[in-house]
Amino acid sequence: MEEKLSTFAKSTTPSPIQQLSYLAQRSNAINLAEGFPDFPAPSHLKNAAVSAINSDFNQYRHVQGICDHVAKNMKNIHGLDVDPITDIVICCGQTEAFAAAMFALLDQGDEVIVIDPSYETYESCIRMAGGVPVFVSLDPPYWTLNPEKLMKVCTSKTKAIVLNSPHNPTGKVFGLDELDIIAETCRKQDCLAVTDEVYEHITYDNEKHISLASLPGMQERTIITSSLSKTYCVTGWRIGWAIAPICIADAIRNIHIRLTDSAPAPFQEAALTALLSPPKYYESLKEDFESRRDFVVEMLSGVGFQVEFKPQGSFFIFAELPNDYEHCDIDFVEELIKQAGVVAVPGCGFFHSKHPPDGYQRRYIRFAFCKSSQTLIAAHRKISALLNSAGRLKLFLAEKGPDT
Ligand SMILES: Cc1ncc(COP(=O)(O)O)c(C=O)c1O
Repeated sequence: MEEKLSTFAKSTTPSPIQQLSYLAQRSNAINLAEGFPDFPAPSHLKNAAVSAINSDFNQYRHVQGICDHVAKNMKNIHGLDVDPITDIVICCGQTEAFAAAMFALLDQGDEVIVIDPSYETYESCIRMAGGVPVFVSLDPPYWTLNPEKLMKVCTSKTKAIVLNSPHNPTGKVFGLDELDIIAETCRKQDCLAVTDEVYEHITYDNEKHISLASLPGMQERTIITSSLSKTYCVTGWRIGWAIAPICIADAIRNIHIRLTDSAPAPFQEAALTALLSPPKYYESLKEDFESRRDFVVEMLSGVGFQVEFKPQGSFFIFAELPNDYEHCDIDFVEELIKQAGVVAVPGCGFFHSKHPPDGYQRRYIRFAFCKSSQTLIAAHRKISALLNSAGRLKLFLAEKGPDT
């Protein structure tokens, strides 16, 4: 039967994250792999969803109030004028908004620049829509964007540049200097930008998320995608949106209707409550995740990881393997599952450009810290139990011996 599959389907195998998730589930490991909270969503949101179900919001639905709130936030936070009726499309999470944007923009062979390391969905969506992803890599350890490298990959075939900030997997929040480089490249090459801003409210140490669309001349060439998923700890509700200039928004809306028709009706209703959260909700969200970040940074540094770049936002720490660990990221994670009962994600899944087998791309592990204190404390206990008397993970690592 396999010959009946499309070329795209044949090339779409489970990602390293999915594979390790299965392994972790089978071995009942503590999950520091996936970017979703394992604690309850805020009770006022759950009550709103229950009440929406009890009020029989069971049919296809478009809740205009979501667009009104999103437009208001864009004005208040980024100073952007967005028409809530024409410029916003409610989708099933950022994932669908991004896919619909790719279908709206790409013809066969159009190139889209993706800044690597990158969240894995972008590549698949670009390919599904017939486009060609072209990767430009950030430079470790601070994940800086080199303007010359960006200019080099930008050609007459470039339709758009994808920007994810705050960034998965590194936790980087792109500052004004680097946003300026991207904006300048878009203007010079007359190409679009597609942003993924799902971590827009999750920044630390007074870092501020700046939307690329707020830079001069960028709103008319930017498609913003975002969602409720991360800000309100409801990744399973599947409510997101795309914000775009009217003719692109129309195209995204038409494609969204053909893909899924509408996002889940009761959760759209509950989204109204989420989007009305008071400022103190967002303040305590940041404080809460910042303390989880600090806990995991300390835990990882304590066992020999090199955490030179402390995440400025998002849910992730992209930590470099201990210096004395000679094996690659995948080996490390397999051993971590087997010996500690903890799962994280090997960094190679986020690097798409060709790289040498012993390159830095095999030296990073992504840890998600958006987990309950019980989970984080249990992970700490299990990982620390593998330390040798010198306080290094070396013993555990040495146990594996040479590559088998
Ligand atoms: C950068 C990034 N974008 C998008 C998503 C998915 O967002 P949504 O749940 O809104 O589809 C994730 C989830 O991990 C993510 O890390």
